[in-house]
Amino acid sequence: MSSTRLLPGGPVAESVLNDVAARAAVLTEKGVTPSLATILVGDDDASAGYIRIKQRQAAELGFDSPHTHLPADATQADLHAAIAAYNDDPTVHGLLVQYPVPGHLDYDAALQAMDPDKDVDGMHPLNMGRLALGMPGPLPCTPAGIEALLAYYDIPVSGREVVILGRGATLGRPLAMLLSQKRPTANAAVTVVHTGVPDWARYTRRADILIAAAGVPGIIQPEHVKPGAVVVGGGVRYEGRRLLPDVDESVESVAGAITPRVGGVGPTTVAMLFRNAITAAERAVAAA
Ligand SMILES: NC(=O)c1ccc[n+]([C@@H]2O[C@H](COP(=O)([O-])OP(=O)(O)OC[C@H]3O[C@@H](n4cnc5c(N)ncnc54)[C@H](OP(=O)(O)O)[C@@H]3O)[C@@H](O)[C@H]2O)c1
Repeated sequence: MSSTRLLPGGPVAESVLNDVAARAAVLTEKGVTPSLATILVGDDDASAGYIRIKQRQAAELGFDSPHTHLPADATQADLHAAIAAYNDDPTVHGLLVQYPVPGHLDYDAALQAMDPDKDVDGMHPLNMGRLALGMPGPLPCTPAGIEALLAYYDIPVSGREVVILGRGATLGRPLAMLLSQKRPTANAAVTVVHTGVPDWARYTRRADILIAAAGVPGIIQPEHVKPGAVVVGGGVRYEGRRLLPDVDESVESVAGAITPRVGGVGPTTVAMLFRNAITAAERAVAAA
């Protein structure tokens, strides 16, 4: 039997969401219901499913969750009008546009049309800039969830060698910024590798903590991992409903600790969305 420690995201998410629910109750007592608005364009089943999960979670946490569903042929102007309506509504504290949007629409332009203080995905360029500068603001959810997961399981990060495979805007790049910040749960020596580094295994093999963020199924094999290392699987690809992780299941035999193939980083990502939303609501109340 393997002695590898599993690092499921569920308990991490639960502890974050308990905190969010307590903070939501404090605001509600003050007469303010925290509110996370969502916008969906088109009729993609998976996207509609993700919105339903977020709405159900919002209800459990005591949030309002207003929603706008635009038709698949909505124009960029329609999308921006929906965003502007939520930007201008002081009862709405957080906002997300479900990704992806239909091909004729520009998601980045929509992101930039959002009030950065309501951007619960933490992906607005201003929030990326805040992250780079160490200023407070909503953090990108998947990277923030990975930092929370490592902290929850008391995995030391400070001073250790973290290698991230992938430099994408959603995961690898912001995670590198986050884990190199001067903070007890970060403070790591971070290396980022990608297709420009053909011998990337030279780096991943020396990692104390290896984070897969490529979106290439099975790209991480046992020979890419230092025995006993902590392995976090962030990258996944969907084929239909089938989820194909970056980290091959055989890696479990060499890792000291590893996120499960299902129920690893995903639940922490959703929890961070609500942590961003409650923080936005508290800031709005404090500023009023
Ligand atoms: N679990 C979750 O909740 C969650 C949430 C968000 C994202 N994700 C997943 O995280 C992954 C990364 O997301 P992203 O938006 O940051 O992705 P992205 O923009 O597609 O970036 C992928 C990165 O991986 C690198 N890469 C791809 N193939 C490679 C190879 N063969 N060798 C070396 N490097 C390779 C790319 O290198 P180049 O830059 O050189 O092209 C790129 O830097 C995706 O799989 C996404 O589905 C998961």
